[in-house]
Amino acid sequence: MKRFITTAFAITGAVALMAQPQLTKDNIEDVIKAMTLEEKATLVVGSGWGSMMAGSMTASATTLVSGAAGTTRAVPRVGIPQIVVADGPAGLRINATRPGTDKTFYCTGFPTGTALASSWNEALVQEFTTAMGNEVKEYGVDVLLAPGLNLMRNPLCGRNFEYYSEDPFLTGKMAAAYVRGVQSNGVGVSAKHFAANNQETNRMFNDSRVDERTLRELYLRGFEILVKEAQPWTIMTSYNKINGVYATESYELLMGILRGEWGFKGMVMTDWNMMHDTAAQMHAQNDLLMPGLEPQIQSVQDCVNNGTLSMEDLDACVRNILNLIVITPRFNHYQYSNDPDLKAHGELVRKGAAECLVLLRNEDDCLPLKNVKKVALYGVGSYDFIAGGTGSGNVSKAYIRNMVDGFKANGVELVSDIQAMYEDYVAKNAKTTNAVVGLGTYVIPELNIDRKYIEDHVADSDVAIFTLSRNAGEGEDRTADEGDFQLLPMEKEIIANLSEVYHAAGKKFIVVLNIGGVIETASWKELPDAILCAWTPGQEGGLTVCDVLCGKSYPSGKLSMTFPVAYTDHPSSKNFPPKDVTNYEEGIWVGYRYFTSKNVPVSYPFGYGLSYTSFKYGKPKVKKASDGSLTATIKVTNVGSAAGKETVQLYVAAPSGGLEKPAYELKAFAKTDELQPGESQVLTMKLDPYYLGSFDMTKDAWVTAPGTYKAYFAASSEDIRKEASFKL
Ligand code: GLC
Repeated sequence: MKRFITTAFAITGAVALMAQPQLTKDNIEDVIKAMTLEEKATLVVGSGWGSMMAGSMTASATTLVSGAAGTTRAVPRVGIPQIVVADGPAGLRINATRPGTDKTFYCTGFPTGTALASSWNEALVQEFTTAMGNEVKEYGVDVLLAPGLNLMRNPLCGRNFEYYSEDPFLTGKMAAAYVRGVQSNGVGVSAKHFAANNQETNRMFNDSRVDERTLRELYLRGFEILVKEAQPWTIMTSYNKINGVYATESYELLMGILRGEWGFKGMVMTDWNMMHDTAAQMHAQNDLLMPGLEPQIQSVQDCVNNGTLSMEDLDACVRNILNLIVITPRFNHYQYSNDPDLKAHGELVRKGAAECLVLLRNEDDCLPLKNVKKVALYGVGSYDFIAGGTGSGNVSKAYIRNMVDGFKANGVELVSDIQAMYEDYVAKNAKTTNAVVGLGTYVIPELNIDRKYIEDHVADSDVAIFTLSRNAGEGEDRTADEGDFQLLPMEKEIIANLSEVYHAAGKKFIVVLNIGGVIETASWKELPDAILCAWTPGQEGGLTVCDVLCGKSYPSGKLSMTFPVAYTDHPSSKNFPPKDVTNYEEGIWVGYRYFTSKNVPVSYPFGYGLSYTSFKYGKPKVKKASDGSLTATIKVTNVGSAAGKETVQLYVAAPSGGLEKPAYELKAFAKTDELQPGESQVLTMKLDPYYLGSFDMTKDAWVTAPGTYKAYFAASSEDIRKEASFKL
């Protein structure tokens, strides 16, 4: 009898399971039909904050991958597993240690967004993120919550280090390269924060009020290029409102523009948000509510039951989530190793990041260093080198190489008691200082060095180097004050004293900028012989910087954001960042669009960067193909005495008349391969007429004015070398 009952149950169970389809990539509609309302409501809500686990900025409920930012919820009855999502743009962010094992789970700290964009090298960015995506896959994560591609409206946004540029075209191209690299591993991304999240102040509730033209030409354009060219698996909506409507609830933004106009087919998740208008979110196909709060599951069911949310709208979100789940490694039972090749990735970062460094000044070719045996190495940043910014954009790295490591690797000696003094100071202040940035990360204040100390050590060194460092992070914006955008009086004094004392001794003095975002430079930039902007170039930063200083490699970066003379030269400084409503009243006049068009002098222009050699530009050609596309070509020759790479920027000036436009706008760029002295390369760039248009609000449409266009071939936004024209 017993056997009979057992068998009966087994058959019933099997029949029951048979009646419930088990998710595959081919039966999603059947699964949706079989799911109950509660199961659907469960699937669209993430698994929650869980316990605050050490090391993870965003607590993680998941024990699947400790420290990951979150997961979806399983619905086992129909074979739907959880999938895992984790930060961040500079590398996978998970806990490096786990209870119960002494195995470590470090990830590589890659160059931050601003550094990547400064390389202007799409192939390099894709190479970096192919390695990054490998770590995502081998540590069992399905979606990397990156890239961050919000436009740098203002230098003081706390998360600018994670973002690319003040220009939407460079932003979109860099983001597309980033996404191609990550997704080439068969894992996904979540391009963020969609959209107009250009400040950290009051980020959850701020209302970004921006006119339609500015929104489309500047703040959405980067996402548009990314979606059309790299098909990100997911998009993350931003916390803020746009013109009074929360992005997460905006049907116009998500269904009208993202899916309707751009053809986005993937899944949309929220940022790590609180409860919103659930029905509006689902109606807008903001498919997944992260990190997920229990009351949201009930809210979804209530909305369906009280008719404020239709079942087909809910099903659309469920469908988008299931379409994502079935292509993830976890759904396809990928046996991840937990053992990516961190050594190889570290070497890739050390070498590749040289292309992210921007040489701002190099009087008498004092760099690369020649006949230098001993360096007087000043500045806390030389010893406590900043690899990246803070908050969810940080990475649990195994190490950060500083400039002591870097000069050692290049066989250059340091003045030992300067080194001892700084190392002692850093060790003593690492965790006791009360100076913090983004979400509470310590920054060690600069150590004051007086002139006498410098004079006592000039004889014992061939050159002096001072690293000026700044850090910033999620959750708060920077300030225009001394110690942030402005230098501290003490920092200015150190630079002035080093300059005077070393120049009096007939020796050189160099400043390295280890900064996450733009700072004031105009008032002191004539004092050092050279200035190398390293940004926050990842975990191998000290090696990369010293490789470049010593000539083992060379800088080929160009600025992706203007260094203004004064912070208040930026039009957006008039209202950055207010508490509740931020009026983007400067409209399209952001960055070089403003400075070049209104002839406002800058300290270092957008697109500017020196190299250890020099380049000659040949006669450009712009050809129109039968399909209307335009191809520009130009020959670049290395006419200097060292190897180098040159980025040519193609700015386009539209014919006058019609909408008021910037003097010219970046519409294409290309970077040469490494050119030895005397070598040339012909660069080819595609110009898409669609991107030459402007958004005419009176017609609610993109318009490309007919007439003669000027193509400027430039080494920076203020260094136009050649020009050509073409007709549309
Ligand atoms: C944070 C950030 C977002 C991050 C998410 C998960 O609040 O805004 O960039 O991916 O939460 O940590």
